[in-house]
Amino acid sequence: MRKYKVGIVGGTGMVGQRFVTLMENHPWFELTAIAASGRSAGKPYREAVAHRWKMKTPIPSMALNIKVMDAATDLKKLADCVDFVFCAVDMEKESVRALEEQLAKYECPVVSNNSAHRFTPDVPMVVPEINPEHLEVIAAQRKRLGVRRGLIAVKSNCSLQSYVPALHPLRQYGLERILVCTYQAISGAGKTFETWPEMVDNVIPYIGGEEEKSEQEPLKLWGKLENGVIVPATSPSITAQCIRVAVADGHMAAVFASFEKKPAKEEILEIWKNYKGRAQELALPSAPKQFLHYFTEDNRPQTRLDRDLEKGMAISIGRLREDTQYDYKFVCLSHNTLRGAAGGAVLLAELLCAEGYID
Ligand SMILES: NC(=O)c1ccc[n+]([C@@H]2O[C@H](COP(=O)([O-])OP(=O)(O)OC[C@H]3O[C@@H](n4cnc5c(N)ncnc54)[C@H](OP(=O)(O)O)[C@@H]3O)[C@@H](O)[C@H]2O)c1
Repeated sequence: MRKYKVGIVGGTGMVGQRFVTLMENHPWFELTAIAASGRSAGKPYREAVAHRWKMKTPIPSMALNIKVMDAATDLKKLADCVDFVFCAVDMEKESVRALEEQLAKYECPVVSNNSAHRFTPDVPMVVPEINPEHLEVIAAQRKRLGVRRGLIAVKSNCSLQSYVPALHPLRQYGLERILVCTYQAISGAGKTFETWPEMVDNVIPYIGGEEEKSEQEPLKLWGKLENGVIVPATSPSITAQCIRVAVADGHMAAVFASFEKKPAKEEILEIWKNYKGRAQELALPSAPKQFLHYFTEDNRPQTRLDRDLEKGMAISIGRLREDTQYDYKFVCLSHNTLRGAAGGAVLLAELLCAEGYID
C-alpha cells in the first residue's frame, strides 16, 4: 500500500512533537514536511527543536533533517507536496481559521487540533468512536469552500476526551444532567515542570476557556447533521469546573450523571465492556482494542499507572457508584496529549482515509 505523505503545521510545538513521534513507523502515514513560524523556518528540524524537545523518546531519525517551512509564506508549497496535514499552532483564532481555510482551498485536507473551527457549523468535530457519521458534512463544506479534495476536520478539546466517551453509550437511558470536575495535566498548557516550576506542589483553580469548551463541545459531538450543518444537541445540561493539577500528563474527571430512566449498575458495566465504535470496527491502526476499560479496584484509575493504557488511546473508568444527589458518580482518565491531542487527530485522519475522504 502506498503511504500518505503527511505534513505537520506547528510541528515544533508540544503537540507537533507528539505528532512527529506518532508518525514514526506509522503503517499508513509518512512524515514528509514540517511547517512552523518564521522563528523556526529554514532550519533542519533537529536544530529547530534543539533545547526544547519535550518527548521522552529521541527525535525520530526520519524527522531530523526535514527543513522547516514557513507557514506564512510556504503554504502553497506545503499543500502541493503532501496528501494532508495535521495542524497544531499557537496563534490568534482568526489567523488559525484563515490558515486552515487557505490550506483546504489549496486542496489540502487539514486535520486540526486547534479550537478555531470547532464551532464552524459545516466542520465536523469527530471522536471516531462517538460520531463518525458527522464526516458526511464534509460534502457541504467542500461546496462552500469550492474545493474537490480539501477539507477541515477537527478533534475536540482534551478535557472532554475522558468523560464524554464514558457517557456516550449511556445516552440510550436519556442523559439529563451532568456535573463534571476535571483535574488537568500541565502538558495541556504545553508545559513541563521544568518550564512551569510554579506548578510543583500546586493546584490552580482556573484554565482559561476550558469550562465553556467542556460544557459546549459535547453537545456538538452529540449533534445531528441537518441541511449541510451540524446542529448541536440541546441536552443533557452540563456544568463543569476545570482545575490544573501538578501532573505531567493525563486528565482525570470526576463525573456525576442523572438519567431519565436510571439503569442498573450492572447494565452500565456491561455496556462499557461491550462498547465498540467505528474505529474498532475498522480496526484502525491507532484504535485501542478495548475503548473503555473499567477498573474494579477502588484506587484506580491512577494517572501515573493508567494514562498509557493501549498506547494512551484507551479511556479508563473507575469507582462507579450511586450518588445522593445524582443517579451515579464515577471517575475517568485519558492521556491528554495522546488520545486528547495528537493521538486523537491521528485516529481521525485514519478514519478519514479509511472512509474515502482523503485519497
Ligand atoms: N498541549 C495540549 O495538550 C493540547 C491539547 C489539545 C489542543 N492543543 C492545541 O494545539 C495547539 C498547539 O498547542 P501546543 O501546546 O503544541 O503549543 P506550543 O508548544 O506553543 O507550539 C506552538 C506551535 O505553533 C507554531 N506557531 C506559533 N506562531 C506561529 C505562526 N505565526 N505561524 C506558524 N506557526 C506558528 C510554533 O512554531 P515555532 O516553534 O516556530 O514558534 C509551534 O510549532 C494550540 O491550539 C492548543 O490549544 C494543545
